[in-house]
Amino acid sequence: MALIALRQLLDHAAEHGYGVPAFNVNNMEQIHAIMQAAEATDSPVILQASAGARKYAGEPFLRKLVEAAIEQHPQLPVCLHQDHGASPAVCLQAMRSGFSSVMMDGSLREDQKTPASYAYNVEVTRRVVDMAHAIGVSVEGELGCLGSLETGTAGEEDGVGAAGTLDRAMLLTDPEQAADFVARTGVDALAIAIGTSHGAYKFSRAPDGAILAIDRIASIHARIPDTHLVMHGSSSVPQEWLAVIREHGGAIRPTWGVPVEEIVRGIASGVRKVNIDTDIRLAMTGAMRRAMADRPDEFDPRAFMKAATAAARGICVARFEAFGCAGRASRIRPLPLAALATRDAAGGAGLQRAA
Ligand code: G3H
Ligand code: 13P
Ligand code: ZN
Repeated sequence: MALIALRQLLDHAAEHGYGVPAFNVNNMEQIHAIMQAAEATDSPVILQASAGARKYAGEPFLRKLVEAAIEQHPQLPVCLHQDHGASPAVCLQAMRSGFSSVMMDGSLREDQKTPASYAYNVEVTRRVVDMAHAIGVSVEGELGCLGSLETGTAGEEDGVGAAGTLDRAMLLTDPEQAADFVARTGVDALAIAIGTSHGAYKFSRAPDGAILAIDRIASIHARIPDTHLVMHGSSSVPQEWLAVIREHGGAIRPTWGVPVEEIVRGIASGVRKVNIDTDIRLAMTGAMRRAMADRPDEFDPRAFMKAATAAARGICVARFEAFGCAGRASRIRPLPLAALATRDAAGGAGLQRAA
């Protein structure tokens, strides 16, 4: 099994200056699409499951699907990551079920709606790091709240995100506080707030530096060069897929995402993990709507699912290539998680720094 810890994968990405897309998965077709794209481009993979995904598919189904993917593609390193863990208990459950990486999102309280205090964030994240590092599992934390610098609000459509209005200081991660947070928690990766938000409605116009603070990445990276930076809400919201959806009965309002070239600038400044969910959703929805319109006599859902899988695969290939991930998988030798466990827990053999 080529399961890889996030830390090992992102260390490789940092050493060689590329970024890894982390795709959200909910079902077999999305996992097929991502694995096929990774195989075609020789890319390492991060598959991540949100609370919503676990509720939709059921955690055992998701885990078994990922196990099957690893079995079918033994040459590809696959990191199985839990997205937006709401509490240490949720993270512990993911570790028990075999995830090689967890996100403790302590930027929000356990309801994942109420912005949390800094002290709370440090406390819960530190607890997760202590448990995870003892068994070689990696941890992503989050500092700052995802949300729009245009409106001061967080996107609510995907069930994750702060409610109400946020001030600018909460919407932009502070480099000094990031350094303190990493020193206190020992996280491997840090999700930062720079004006991106989840879902399709990120920006009401093509974003510029006033509403998408890509420049902030370099200043955060300068303070914490050994911590891998993570961009959430990084779908590009392809205008061509919006057009396909609209042409076939969909009603998506005018909207813009994070341009791929801005993500590439982010990677050049220190971003190593790039979270993408919405782009796959848009491509699959567009492809299914089109396939149904083109073939009104078709009643086998596999026909529509195949079109959706191909569309998702196209998004994944494009992101693997744009982020410099293509051609890297065959150069990585995944270490067993036990080899990454902290020194105390592993009896001196660990590679991971004890914080
Ligand atoms: O974390 C954000 C992802 O887009 C997950 O969305 O909660 O609808 O699965 P979801
Ligand atoms: P998008 O909604 O932009 O795809 O972001 C997904 C994400 O950040 C998952 O954690
Ligand atoms: Zn996210």
